Amino acid sequence: MTGISASHPFSLIIFGASGHLAKIKLYPALYVLALKKRLPADYAIIGFSRSDLDETAFKKLVEESIREHMIEVTEKALSEFLSHVHYHQGQYDDIKDYQALAKKLENIEKNGKWKVESGKLVRLAYYSVPPTVFADVSHNLCEGNVHDGKIPFRCIVEKPVGHDLESFEAIKKQLVGCFQEDEIYLLDHYLGKEAVRNIYYLRYANPIFERILKNTLINHVEITAMEKKGLEGRAGYFEAAGTFRDMFQSHLLMMASLLTMRIQSEEDLAAGRSDALSQFYLPASVDMDELALQAQYSGYLKEEGVQKGSRTNTFACLKLMTRISKWDGVPFYLHSGKMLEKKETRISIQFQEPRPVGEGSTPNRLDIILQGEAGMRVYLQTKMGGTEPAFRPLVLEDPLVCVGDCLPEHSLMILEAIHGRRHWFLNFDEVKTSWRLIDPIQKYFDTDSTPLHTYKAGSKGPEAADQWIEKDGLEWF
Ligand code: BG6
Repeated sequence: MTGISASHPFSLIIFGASGHLAKIKLYPALYVLALKKRLPADYAIIGFSRSDLDETAFKKLVEESIREHMIEVTEKALSEFLSHVHYHQGQYDDIKDYQALAKKLENIEKNGKWKVESGKLVRLAYYSVPPTVFADVSHNLCEGNVHDGKIPFRCIVEKPVGHDLESFEAIKKQLVGCFQEDEIYLLDHYLGKEAVRNIYYLRYANPIFERILKNTLINHVEITAMEKKGLEGRAGYFEAAGTFRDMFQSHLLMMASLLTMRIQSEEDLAAGRSDALSQFYLPASVDMDELALQAQYSGYLKEEGVQKGSRTNTFACLKLMTRISKWDGVPFYLHSGKMLEKKETRISIQFQEPRPVGEGSTPNRLDIILQGEAGMRVYLQTKMGGTEPAFRPLVLEDPLVCVGDCLPEHSLMILEAIHGRRHWFLNFDEVKTSWRLIDPIQKYFDTDSTPLHTYKAGSKGPEAADQWIEKDGLEWF
C-alpha cells in the first residue's frame, strides 16, 4: 500500500455527516490520512446532513470527534485538516439541495484554484446513512448534477446493503439505475483491517499452510467475533438488525471466505472471495436448531431505544459447510455476540486427533487472533523426559503486529476508493450470496417458537451455546 500516492485531488461528500459512524470512524480516519500526509494539497470533505449546523459548528463537531477517538492529536495537522472541511445542510429527498451542493463543489474545486491534472479530479459520496435513504441520495446525486458524468465518481456504500435478499436486490436496482457498476464501492470495514487481509496473505505467502489446510488433516474451524461493547446508542439500527444480520452476513462470512478461497492474483480477489462464499452451504437434513442458535443478554430490554419485549438477538452461532473439495466435510462454527467478557476476533483451526501417542497428547491447533490480544499461535506438543511417552504443550507464537504502513481500516479503504482500487470492496455477487445464506436462518430466528436464550452481560455467552457445540462432541476454544 505504500504505492498509493496522494496525487488525486478529490471532493468527498459524507452523507449522514452528524451520525454515529461518521463521528467515530470517518473523521478520525480522514484525519489520520492527513496526518500521515497521504492526502493531496487540494481536497475537500463536505459533510451533508439534515442537522441545522453552520460551517463553524460542523468543523467543531469534526474536531471533537477526532479528539475523542484519537489517542494523540497533532494540532498543526488537525487545523490544516479542518481547513478542508465544509458543511452542506440539506434534505436527502430534495433535489434542490443537491443542485446547490453541485454549485458549492464547483466553487471549491475551480475557484479554489485546485491544481488538477486532466482526468485526475475525483468526486466521492460516502453513504453513512440508513439504506432507506439510499434511493433518494442516489437519484438526486445524479439528477442534481453532483455526479455530472464527466468527473470520475465513486459511491461508497457502507454495509449492510439491505436487511435481506429482497431488500438487497431493490437497493442494487436503485444503485445501478444511477451509477455504473464500477462506480459503486460496497464497503465491509473488516476487509480494510490489515489483520483480516492477512488471513489471505498468510496463506498466499506461506505455501506450507496450503499443504495442511485440507480436510484430511482438519477436524473443524471456529470463527469468532466477540465484542465487549453493547449498543452504543445505535438501538434504532440494531433493533431491526440483531447480531446475526449485523455481523454474520458481512464480517464473519468474509473471514470464512478469505480462509477457504483459492489463492489468486490481486485483480481477481473479489471474484475469488465471491466464489468461495458461494460454496458455503447449510447442511440439509439437519434441524435448524442444530445449525443455529440465538441469544440476548439480560438487561438488553432495558437499553434505551429497545422495544418492549424485543426478540432481537445480541449473540448467535451458526454451523456451515463448504463444497470446496479440499475443505469438504469440515464443519465451520461461527459465533459472535455483544456485551461479552472481552473483545476477540479469531479463527481457530483444529487439526485431527493425534494418534494416541501418550499422556498429555492434544490435537494440533492454529489460532489467528485478529483483534483483542492479537497473535498467531501454533499449538504443538513435545515429549517430556522419561522412559514413557508423555507430552507437554509447545506453542509457537507471534504477536502479528502490523509493521510498515499501517492504516486504520476506514483510512485504507477511503484511500483505495480515491485511487479506484476495488479488490477489497465487495461486489454485488458477494452480498447477494451472503444474504442467500443468512435469510433462511434469520427466518428461523424470527419465528416466535425459536428459542432466544439469555446470557449475563460481561460473560462468555449463553450456556446453551456450549451445549449446542457439545452435541457435536466439541467445545469452544
Ligand atoms: C459493525 C457492526 O459493522 O462492526 C457493529 O455494525 C460492530 O455492531 C462492529 O460493533 C464491530 O467492528 P470492529 O471493527 O469493532 O470489530
